[in-house]
Amino acid sequence: MVLAGCARNAPQDALDPAGPLARSADSLFKTVFWAAVVPIFVIVEGALLFFVLRYRQRSDKDAPVQTHGHTPVEVIWTIIPAAILAVVAVPTIAKIFEFAKRPSGDVLEVTVKAHQWWWEYQYPDLGPSPDRPLIGANELHIPIDRPVLVTLESEDVIHAFWVPRLSGKQDVVPGRKNHLTLIAEEPGEYLGQCAEYCGLSHANMRLKVIAMTQDDFDAWAEAQADPAVEPTDPLAMKGKELFLTGQFAGGAACSTCHVVEGTPAVGKVGPSLTHVASRTTIAGATLDFPGDLEAWLRNPPEEKPGSKMPNLKLTDEEVDALMAYLRGLE
Ligand code: CUA
Repeated sequence: MVLAGCARNAPQDALDPAGPLARSADSLFKTVFWAAVVPIFVIVEGALLFFVLRYRQRSDKDAPVQTHGHTPVEVIWTIIPAAILAVVAVPTIAKIFEFAKRPSGDVLEVTVKAHQWWWEYQYPDLGPSPDRPLIGANELHIPIDRPVLVTLESEDVIHAFWVPRLSGKQDVVPGRKNHLTLIAEEPGEYLGQCAEYCGLSHANMRLKVIAMTQDDFDAWAEAQADPAVEPTDPLAMKGKELFLTGQFAGGAACSTCHVVEGTPAVGKVGPSLTHVASRTTIAGATLDFPGDLEAWLRNPPEEKPGSKMPNLKLTDEEVDALMAYLRGLE
């Protein structure tokens, strides 16, 4: 069980908090941990072992003196657990209010929409208009040293959004808008994971937060607001045509489910692919882009069980052309 925590790229690693809220959650964890380890585990288990050994039955003569009712002892073993519970409860309740507080000042708002099994991000203030927000998937870009107010919405079942090094964990419930604040202090990549069982590929519903300086973030947002790059290479042009209108042995064109801004592709089922080549991962941040793109195109449900993207039974030529097109969508 301990070795299971040593996975390469394990997002659950919360030992190194990288923002004020994560540090606050970490300090609460340590308080509760030691309140459980010292009085409960060490003292209670130690006393249990001591009494089991000391008063084990060797012969009838070994029976200890029996007493019934001892007011001072009963008062003591009521007060001690109450004190331990207070040590756990007071900081826990204080943190509930601290985490629920909406950040003030220069806040960036992001709406996170959870899907089975990937994350969609909408930046209402960064798109051309509020009804046309900037849209990303799986990799959430944020500026450092600035509170990011995340509004969590679900498109299907209950999920939970969790980036351990940046904040606490929050459920994503259909029909509700929950909130979470993320704050990163250093540029870098912070791994996250859906933390509520949500179906077959729950474990494949990962995410990555990419924290950057405000200048880098502004440049990123500006590039993301552009329409998709037009292919010029003949293979990529063929790929675009297949993407928009291709009928494959295993299903209809990619444009039925995906949007690519600036083209007739306006599907809303899967992630926006307008700038897919600016991302480093696909498929719920579990596969590398572009390294695993071919395996994904050939058989998505094999890579992510239960994937809504079916096996389109693409031919080698179709895979080559689609890859050429997608890899150009920077
Ligand atoms: Cu989404 Cu588990």
